[in-house]
Amino acid sequence: MAEPHGTWYDADIDRVVVTEEQLREKIDDLAKQVAADYADHESVLLVGVLKGAFMFMADFARALGRQSRHVELEFMAISSYGQRATSSGVVRILKDLDRDIAGQHVIVVEDIVDSGLTLSWLLKYLASRSAASVEVVTLLRKPDAVKIDVPVRYVGFDIPNDFVVGYGLDYAERYREVPFIGVLKPSVYTRA
Ligand code: IMP
Repeated sequence: MAEPHGTWYDADIDRVVVTEEQLREKIDDLAKQVAADYADHESVLLVGVLKGAFMFMADFARALGRQSRHVELEFMAISSYGQRATSSGVVRILKDLDRDIAGQHVIVVEDIVDSGLTLSWLLKYLASRSAASVEVVTLLRKPDAVKIDVPVRYVGFDIPNDFVVGYGLDYAERYREVPFIGVLKPSVYTRA
């Protein structure tokens, strides 16, 4: 596994879980799968879940745009964890969809599915808005998510049960800009 690069990364990041190159290749693969599955559809509406999915959404939308004709983008911002590193199951809408999605073929673009609580809430919410179809693409999936009954059609990487940061994912609003997925050093959590 490659070492983290950059100067300050070395101080905070313990190890890399998914490299930049692995991200690029996987996102191209996912876009090819989705393009093939949606070949008969006039357009697809990607619903990105902020903030964590912003980087994946940008790269996935570009990859999909290269494969298929028409991609539209919407964003929702929901908060499930606050400052904590475990899921509370309490979901707040911070930013709602800007338009009616009735009759649209929606693909939810998620950063990570862990307990699945956020996603199962979101799927119920989108169903109540009468989308024609709703599928999910998630970049990362943790072991607990495999046990739950939330249909995730496209999965980038199944990762171990560690808290990860980077490529959009944060710890207390930091590390979203890190270009790979990594695990923080234990000392980061005990800092004042
Ligand atoms: P779930 O409801 O437990 O599936 O959690 C989903 C949300 O929690 C994700 O969209 C992330 O924003 C956040 N999350 C879960 N695991 C991690 C992690 O390892 N690092 C950073 N954020 C995480």
